[in-house]
Amino acid sequence: MLTYFKAFRRTLAVAAVALAAFSLQPGSAQAQSDPTAEPSPGVVGGTRATQGEFPWMVRLSMGCGGALYTQQIVLTAAHCVDGSGPNTSITATAGVVDLQSSQAVKVKSTQVVQAPGYDGSGKDWALIKLAKPVNLPTLKIADNTAYNNGTFTVAGWGAATEGGSQQRYLLKANVPYVDDATCQKAYGSALTPGDEICAGYLAQGGVDTCQGDSGGPMFRKDNAGAWIQVGIVSWGEGCARPGYPGVYSEVSTFAANIRTAAASLGG
Ligand code: ARG
Repeated sequence: MLTYFKAFRRTLAVAAVALAAFSLQPGSAQAQSDPTAEPSPGVVGGTRATQGEFPWMVRLSMGCGGALYTQQIVLTAAHCVDGSGPNTSITATAGVVDLQSSQAVKVKSTQVVQAPGYDGSGKDWALIKLAKPVNLPTLKIADNTAYNNGTFTVAGWGAATEGGSQQRYLLKANVPYVDDATCQKAYGSALTPGDEICAGYLAQGGVDTCQGDSGGPMFRKDNAGAWIQVGIVSWGEGCARPGYPGVYSEVSTFAANIRTAAASLGG
């Protein structure tokens, strides 16, 4: 069972990257929403974010999301990158909800830190250093478990339906927290409860992140009313299926490691 789930997760991740890489080829119909598809703008079950609503949201060229941890460092998922070291192959697109906007800020990567010890199970975080700072707000990360509850917001340019195409416009949705014990009932030992936090409408499904949203933030308001990141889109069985919540990296678990890694990238 464990092996099955782990293999399944890897397959999903690889398929997502392969799919996104294909659809991001120059000249292809990348990030076009299909006007004949059902009118469910996605993340699955989401609605369009407005320009500037989530100003720290980043789209990464391998087909993942991310958030500005600093103006020159993007926090994303470990499964979105190939490893650590110098890397000039990634382009980050920031500052826009419309990926085709002429206002888009596009910056290349210079270095990547993939979570030390990442082996496909838990620890699904990575940092990408950008060639230059972008003049946009950053998203602070939770460094304790106080906000690992309530209703979260997720956003991304990923598929709006399971197996669907990547989106041109940023979509958002709200999903409720699902506790570890409940989430483990769905996923068994595939879940690493200390490293992962689950969210979704357990009974009915219908709202979730999906392929291409990986690496993007799951966030909520803190007690002062500011957005705070509590999760990183990681995996799930399908998208928005009843009984299968979305699984997110638990940011508070890794906050100290993220800070150290960011310092190693020169802040
Ligand atoms: N692994 C996927 C990606 O690479 C994210 C899947 C999220 N799935 C979910 N049901 N919440 O984009």
